[in-house]
Order: sequence, then C-alpha cells, then structure tokens
Amino acid sequence: MIAPTKPDLVTVNVDGKDVAVPKGTNVIEAARLVGVDVPYYCYHPKLSVVGNCRMCLIEMGMPSVDPATKAPIMDPATGKQKINWIPRPQIGCATNASPGLHIRTNTPQIKDCREGVMEFLLINHPLDCPICDQAGECKLQEQATGYGRGYSRFIEQKNVKPKRTQLGPRVTLDDERCILCSRCIRFCKEIVKDDVLGFTDRGSYSTLTCYPGKALSNNYSLNTVDICPVGALTSTDFRFKMRVWFLKQTNSIDTESSVGANTVVWSREGIIYRITPRRNDEVNDTWLSDSARDLYKPVRASDRLTAVRVNGAASSLDLAVTAAVDVLTAAAGAVAVVGSGRSSVEEQYLTRTLATALRASTHLVSRIGEGDKILISADRNPNVRGALVTGLITALPAPRLSALATAIEAGQVNAIVSVGEDLVAAGLTPAQLAKVSIVYLGTHENPTAAAAKVAIPTLMVFEKSGTFVNQQFRLQKFFKCVPGPVGGADDLVVLAKLAAAVSGGTVAGEMHAVWSAMTVDVPAVKAITFATLPETGLLLDATPFSALTFPEAETLHYQPAAKAIA
Ligand code: SF4
Ligand code: FES
Repeated sequence: MIAPTKPDLVTVNVDGKDVAVPKGTNVIEAARLVGVDVPYYCYHPKLSVVGNCRMCLIEMGMPSVDPATKAPIMDPATGKQKINWIPRPQIGCATNASPGLHIRTNTPQIKDCREGVMEFLLINHPLDCPICDQAGECKLQEQATGYGRGYSRFIEQKNVKPKRTQLGPRVTLDDERCILCSRCIRFCKEIVKDDVLGFTDRGSYSTLTCYPGKALSNNYSLNTVDICPVGALTSTDFRFKMRVWFLKQTNSIDTESSVGANTVVWSREGIIYRITPRRNDEVNDTWLSDSARDLYKPVRASDRLTAVRVNGAASSLDLAVTAAVDVLTAAAGAVAVVGSGRSSVEEQYLTRTLATALRASTHLVSRIGEGDKILISADRNPNVRGALVTGLITALPAPRLSALATAIEAGQVNAIVSVGEDLVAAGLTPAQLAKVSIVYLGTHENPTAAAAKVAIPTLMVFEKSGTFVNQQFRLQKFFKCVPGPVGGADDLVVLAKLAAAVSGGTVAGEMHAVWSAMTVDVPAVKAITFATLPETGLLLDATPFSALTFPEAETLHYQPAAKAIA
C-alpha cells in the first residue's frame, strides 16, 4: 500500500472561522471545508472558470499592512489585524485561497446579491418543475428555495425557445430551461476536445445549440447531462423513466477497461435504471464514458444463465459441485483452469486456490482495444492486475488460449474449469472443446456453456461485491446493487465449494473470510480489509510487476511511465 502525498496548506478565514486548506484551493471549496455553502452554477471543479452566472458573489478582504514598512495594522477594537474589505462583492469561483484571505458569505449585501441573481435567472425559466425530469437534482430549484426572494415580480411574457431538441443520439435539450452557464460547452471543448456546442444570439435570446453540421455524439456526451445544473440537458434513455428520489444509489466500478472509473448505480426494486460517475480525483475526476453507462443492460438479457446444468439437465448447485469434482478428479494431473480478467480480486484468489488444489495450469484471456486517451484504456479487462497480485498469473495474458489449445491437442489436458470465459471466443475450436470435459461458471449462454458437462450460473458485477485493481494498481471496491437472478450463485460461493471439495479441506467463500485469507496469502494486500478500504481506493505496491510491459497508453490520470510506483 502506498501512502498519499501531503499538500502545502494555507490558512484562510471564512465567516470568522480560520481554516487550513491546500494552497490554490478555490474559495468555494475552502468555504465547503468549514461547512459554509457558497451557491454557484457555472463553476465546476474540473472545468475552466468563466464567472458568468454571478451566483457565487462573496465579500473578500486581506489583512491590512503599512505600505511603507509592511508591518501589520492592528484594529484597536478587536486587537486583531485590520482587514481591508473590497467594497464591492467579488465572485468566489475565480479566487484561489491565499494566506490570510478573508471572505464573508452571510452579510445583507450578499443576501441581496443572491436574490437578485436568482430573480434574473428565473425571469425566462419555465415553471415546469412538476413535469421536469431534473426534479430532485435541480440546482435552480434547490437554490431558489435556499437563496431566492420567494416570490416573482415578473409579469411579462417569458421567452419561448426550442423544446426537445436532439443534440445527439443520447442527449435531449430543452432550451428554455438553459441558464447559459456554459458548463456543457466547456466540457466538450476542454475534456473531450470535441468543440461541438455554442451559444447563438444575444441577451435573453441566447440559445444553446450545436455548431452547423455537428452533433453531440462523442462517447462522453452524457457528462453534459450530469453537469447541467438545470433540466436543460437530459438523457434521452433515462428521461421520464423514474423520479430520482425513488432510486437507491450504490457505489460501483466501470468494468469496460482497466481505467476503473468510479460509478454510482441507481436502482429500484431490483431493476437498474442508470449509471452515473462518482468523483475520484485520482481516476476519473467526475466523468464517465457513455458506453460505461450501458453496461447494466445485459443484466436482464434473455440469454442469462439461470439454471444449474449437469450434462444438459437441470440440477441443484450441490449436485453440480459433486459432478464437477468427479470430472476434475477423474482428469487429475490433466486439468487447466481458465480464470478471467473480469473477475474480482477475491474471485481470482479463490480461482488460484482451486487451481492449486487441482495442481492445474492457469490461463487468462486478454482483451486489447484502442484507448481513447480519456477513460477507456487499451486493456479492456478491468482486473488483469488483480490476477497478477493474487498470483493467479505471473505473466501478461495473450488474447488467444494458444498454449491451452496445444496442450489439448497433445492430450495433456482432459478437463477445463472456465470462470466466466467463453473458450471459443478465446480461440479454442469446437473440436478442441469436444476433447475435454468442461466445468463452466458464467452469466450468459455461449458455446462454452452449451458444451459444458457442468454449467453453473453466476452473478454479474452489479449483483455482487468485490474489488478490482486498475491500471494504476489502485485497489477499488464495488458493491452489490441488485439481487442476482433466481438460480444464480455467487462466484465466491461456487469457487469455495469447488476448492473445498477438491482439497478435502475448508475454504471460506464469504467476503470477509476471503479477505482474512488474502491478507495472509497475498503480500500486496497485507493490512487491508474490505471494510476499511476507502471508497476512492488504495494504491498497491507495483514494483514486483515493474518489468512487465502493460498495453495501456496515457489516459486521464495515467502515464505509462508511472506504472512502476516506487
Ligand atoms: S444546457 Fe445546461 S450546462 Fe449547458 S449552458 Fe445550459 S444550463 Fe449550462
Ligand atoms: S459560479 Fe458562476 S460566477 Fe462564480
């Protein structure tokens, strides 16, 4: 485990309270640290500052010093150094904390300013909160309640702007709700480098739109929906499906590549409705690809495996485990275990335990694609590094199971345990599958499940808890969001049952017990427990793997040269 570096601190004063904050902290964030809310719309911690909404107005001052001697000028009334307050309010979003900075957020002047700004913002905003999809997470609604005047003096006709404009395949715009904060424009330009959005016309007639001939179709377009503070940009897929206050939020991890973006899965009564990003400044900031948001859709696919099968006939889990052990012991000395870079660390540890008990060779399948330099890396497995850390593999995997194919042809392998991998997709031919007995643990139907002597339905990432090790060697945990399908069994339970039956000993399949075993067996996770692992993860020592050449190129918070963490 690698200890994080400590930042330089400066002391600022917020509403009379001193607070030490990292140098360069934005005033809005500094105030947040002492529990003071500075309202804002256009500011976003991961975008440039434009200062166009004026909601974050504050009073600001610096300790007074004699210009000639630079000696502090004291206030005789308080005995403290006098503060030179700037006479007009300033925007907090454009100011960084500097030593001695004083801010006031609760004066009558600031209250007036906020009420004025809210009144201007609401002049042309439709009063359609009851039918707006942003209800429950609308900053305009929240701040109108917290900082608005409470009544309207506007008696003129509101502007009418375009409704339900499709900006791209996944984003719908209701222009009359837009408060012109420009977050969506800056996101596309600064983060995705796809300068596709802009404003046309002036003043009250300013309208957000795509540039002529362009569409908001990049693979990060739904981040504009996340950061739009009002209901102007909505997800075409999620729009009107569910009120957000009915949804349960569960922390998870994006499994589409080794970046391991942090996510929140929103579900109700066992059904997942959407996936949004979870802030992790070391991994994905506040962003998530559009493709990662679709990963829950196979959960309710019609080809889910839901029945345990032995020789094609329905069976119970315990009978299937017995049948699997019979197959594997009959082939003793000629068994191969194919693990997965999509399995969790805990599952990979138990896969290794099973392989050791069987004295089997272990294999893994790589998935290599093209990285997008943002949040999708070249390694499309989320957890190859977990397989290295747990000792399931000692070298980087290849995309095809060529060595296993050769061993089957040579008659050296008579039985295979596949944990979630379709062996045909990984390069074995149907003829080679026919030469071996297969025990398959998996989530969906495929040629391997069809050819297996024993097929056991297991759970998708949303249906179980565990950890992954991302490309930075950051150990991150995910939690069960929804129950698995009837007939599905937790991979850990199945692997533990198999390993115990093969070894004739006891192997725990419960999360905390697996962690107790791993802290003894796996040096990289010594002194870590699942319960105490922080939500933003922990960096593991990568030096034992520094000689390996990983496939990833640069992404948002990853530099290949930094893979060997000292
Ligand atoms: S659509 Fe939303 S994010 Fe974009 S400028 Fe308007 S209010 Fe801001
Ligand atoms: S947050 Fe908009 S001006 Fe500061």
